[in-house]
Amino acid sequence: MDYSGILSDRAVRIPPSGIRKFFDIAAEMKDCISLGVGEPDFITPQPFGAAGIKSIADGKTQYTSNSGLKELRCAVSRYLKSSTGVEYDPLTDVLVTVGASEAIDLALRALINPGDEILVPSPSYVSYAPCVELAGGVPVAIDTRDENMFKLTPEEIAEKITPKTKALILPYPNNPTGAIMEREYLEKIAPVIKKNNLIVISDEIYSELTYGEEAHVSLASLPGMRERTILINGFSKAFAMTGWRVGYVAAPAQLLAVMRKIHQYAIMCAPTAAQYAALEALEHSFRNGYAEVKEMRRQYNERRIYLVNRLNDMGLKCFEPRGAFYAFPSVKSTGMNGEQFAEKLLYSKKVAVVPGSAFGASGRDFIRISYAYSVEAIRKALDKIEEFLDELK
Ligand SMILES: Cc1ncc(COP(=O)(O)O)c(C=O)c1O
Repeated sequence: MDYSGILSDRAVRIPPSGIRKFFDIAAEMKDCISLGVGEPDFITPQPFGAAGIKSIADGKTQYTSNSGLKELRCAVSRYLKSSTGVEYDPLTDVLVTVGASEAIDLALRALINPGDEILVPSPSYVSYAPCVELAGGVPVAIDTRDENMFKLTPEEIAEKITPKTKALILPYPNNPTGAIMEREYLEKIAPVIKKNNLIVISDEIYSELTYGEEAHVSLASLPGMRERTILINGFSKAFAMTGWRVGYVAAPAQLLAVMRKIHQYAIMCAPTAAQYAALEALEHSFRNGYAEVKEMRRQYNERRIYLVNRLNDMGLKCFEPRGAFYAFPSVKSTGMNGEQFAEKLLYSKKVAVVPGSAFGASGRDFIRISYAYSVEAIRKALDKIEEFLDELK
């Protein structure tokens, strides 16, 4: 049967993720070391998982309310108050979603009218631009630059604003660069957001994984910004719960009500057992001062320092990533772009990394290396990358 003309043009037009392409090759390759995956190598801490299992054993197997378990929304609200200083009413301002992924999609679908432009910093997480397009909007890339440590500047935002601009995606801590936006940089972009009446979709999924003096700062905590921020976060990264599929969105009630409506029709509710596990992740962390999260962050930090030092020592220039669990070195010195480098490295040394171009055209001369792997795996892979570079000389 000929399906052309049957499928949605919009959906067909969207390119497949540049990450998957490499993994499909790597998965078939024997003894391949991958530093490509963007998820914690830690398994879910036992008490969190146990709470999910117990909820099933106790027969809590029905749907929850569309918004998610009330206890979980209360815990999220408490967490957001303590981590960002911002108040969100658990009854009207918080929605539990199927990962941050669903929250991103909901926010875009709730905001976009056909042809609306959404500013998407580049490089950034692969799903933003396709989700904008699927919602009928137009993604407009803002190229962030290595020399600015991939932070977003007010000038870069202002340059891309047109009468059709509706929202800005604020993806910090950033995947793939590891860049963060400290308070002083958020303060610089806030006036341009306000002046142009933009809504900000702030993807803070890596908020617990920052490695400087200053903890993550949410844009919503700046004066006048709560009312124009859709804050997205979840349990996948900091709590090592990717497979459970629980995230959330917190936003002004009027925005959240529209997102809840889409969620109600498309999803019904996030998985019930996973919501109980997420609830325990927060309540357990409130009780023990986030011991598990802190320990994982300590280990990520050790790996980060080791990885970045070695990359710079071997001539792959890498600015210091201060968040998430990725390094984003430039491979320009090798005369190759990121895609050529990643492909050659994979076939000659069986080491998988992701070309920076998978995250936007401005990532062309870079590769993304994840340090969500054991130090041993990172060391082995780096030895091979060093060999690879020596052979190029
Ligand atoms: C920046 C960013 N946002 C969102 C997600 C999706 O997270 P979740 O597992 O909560 O859907 C990811 C996953 O890699 C990510 O890197």
